[in-house]
Amino acid sequence: MAKMWAGRTSGVTDSIADDFNSSIHFDCKMYKQDITGSMAHAAMLGAKGIIAKAEADALIDGLQGILEDLNSGALAFDFSCEDIHMFVEQVLTQRLGDVGKKLHTARSRNDQVALDLRMYLRSEIDEITALVKDVLDAILEQAEKNKGVIMPGYTHLQRAQPILFSHHLMAYAMMLLRDLDRLADCRKRMNISPIGCCALAGTTYDTDRRFEAAQLGFDGIAMNSIDGVSDRDFCLELISAIATLMMHLSRFSEEIILWASWEFKFIELSDAYTTGSSIMPQKKNPDMAELVRGKTGRVYGDLMALLTTLKGLPLAYNKDMQEDKEAVFDAVETVKMCLKVFAPMLATMTAKPENMKKAAQGGFINATDLADYLVKKGMPFRSAYKISGQIVARCIAEGKVLETLPLESYREFSDLFENDLYADIDMLTCVEKRISEGGTSQASVEAQIAYVKECLA
Ligand code: ARG
Repeated sequence: MAKMWAGRTSGVTDSIADDFNSSIHFDCKMYKQDITGSMAHAAMLGAKGIIAKAEADALIDGLQGILEDLNSGALAFDFSCEDIHMFVEQVLTQRLGDVGKKLHTARSRNDQVALDLRMYLRSEIDEITALVKDVLDAILEQAEKNKGVIMPGYTHLQRAQPILFSHHLMAYAMMLLRDLDRLADCRKRMNISPIGCCALAGTTYDTDRRFEAAQLGFDGIAMNSIDGVSDRDFCLELISAIATLMMHLSRFSEEIILWASWEFKFIELSDAYTTGSSIMPQKKNPDMAELVRGKTGRVYGDLMALLTTLKGLPLAYNKDMQEDKEAVFDAVETVKMCLKVFAPMLATMTAKPENMKKAAQGGFINATDLADYLVKKGMPFRSAYKISGQIVARCIAEGKVLETLPLESYREFSDLFENDLYADIDMLTCVEKRISEGGTSQASVEAQIAYVKECLA
């Protein structure tokens, strides 16, 4: 059968070319946006007198019918159509006859696909946003449930300083808040309507682009018709925001995997979010966290794929751009799946405060506080740092920790040491003394929790 665009050519194509060219298998996802976009277009054509009012009404009714039939399953996609735009127009024309053929006045598939994609992705952003908030809720829940639990904080994955477990968790909350910001910012630029740019140059008809934009909930219109049909920045920005979000989830996953190991045992994951091994009966594997970490790679791939596709494309529309959808849809689907499993996995995880405390006590992570003690007594920090290091070395040689080294030994290093040193190097004191804004003290962590709640409200 000849294509709807038969004209200059016979419109008869080889089936291999059809399969290669068609996008309906993946752009059928956007059928709702395609149809509502067309309804707004028909309304504008009628309002501007470009087609008769009755014709516009017929088109809108016909489109509404197609929407309902697709929703109910009464109508199925015809995968022999090139894309979703052609499919909808074909059904409309079958149902309405010649009136159906008027819908495509003053527009092109080039502005139509850009419109559909913006509308589809902006509602995906809203969904992703809600899912990120679920993860934030799970973080807040764990932070509040584990108030006062001390763990070692790390740098270079070496025990560094004592921190509150909740402080560590809240670090991830700050990352996710920035992710929410990035998504909102991306949505702002996405919510600009390209419809009416037509193929590339605009149109000779007296259209009203702002009428259509307003009907479809856009904040404005693309101010240059060539840019309107060529721009895929909104896809790149979204994948990039998702890639950053995935990177955060991946870092968090990595820590959960470490914490769940026998070596750490800082947490235990709920059975519901772990798997067993087919051969080793003792195993409880953190597969969900590992998969989130793994899927981060594929989202980076989506970003690189689209950046590379767009690089060097001349203006305006090129068929290469059809490749945008699979990349951005994959990133969106992947991050949604990850967020959906991450929130309950986190909410149901159990902290092991005793194990965290044990790890905190064995690693000389109060050595900075020992140096600070000497500074308090009048010694310059560099000298205090050096002496504290020598004391750590002595402890290691004697199989002791700072808390169990007797005062006489301390005084061999400096006579500034007195009995009050033990209170200063107590883990809880070390944490509570870190009162600087954003530090690990209980009060500071509570302020962070309140801040995040306020941002979410
Ligand atoms: N299926 C196409 C895409 O996804 C729609 C736009 C086609 N435009 C064209 N002039 N062939 O990009």
